[in-house]
Amino acid sequence: MTYSVLYISSAAPDLNHNDVQDIMEAAAANNDPLQISGFLVFDDGNFLQLLEGEEEQVNMIYDRIKKDLRHRNIIPVLEQHTGIKGFDFYHSGFRICDNPKLVEELKNYVSLIRNIEAPQLRKTINLVDAILHAM
Ligand SMILES: Cc1cc2nc3c(=O)[nH]c(=O)nc-3n(C[C@H](O)[C@H](O)[C@H](O)COP(=O)(O)O)c2cc1C
Repeated sequence: MTYSVLYISSAAPDLNHNDVQDIMEAAAANNDPLQISGFLVFDDGNFLQLLEGEEEQVNMIYDRIKKDLRHRNIIPVLEQHTGIKGFDFYHSGFRICDNPKLVEELKNYVSLIRNIEAPQLRKTINLVDAILHAM
């Protein structure tokens, strides 16, 4: 059953552009082969990430992420079984959103799938929507 993790965090104070690039590259390279979908947004010093996939794979990546010193104040927003993935047909895999245009695209996608008939997934979608609009 699909498991998903949604969290927010703050970039480490000394994080530079290259660090962000490295993080984005690791996510792009590692998640697709593990069939982990979702997205990683970096905006104004904050990260928002959704990981969805098999529980074991998601937790393996999430455990690594939690130990990463390039961010702090990691706040889990939602950790739940959703039954289905909401983001696997979005950009055919894991999505990196490191500029305003891509964040805007993600917001549009979220509003498209808002009324999906899957209560657990809808919870994720509503939270993502609210956080993206507050970021
Ligand atoms: C905010 C944040 C998000 C991250 N997201 C991912 C991710 O989705 N997938 C991933 O493999 N690594 C992610 N990382 C990096 C991991 O902490 C770790 O550095 C990386 O998985 C190591 O992979 P590598 O051995 O291929 O370099 C993230 C790091 C940070 C700070």
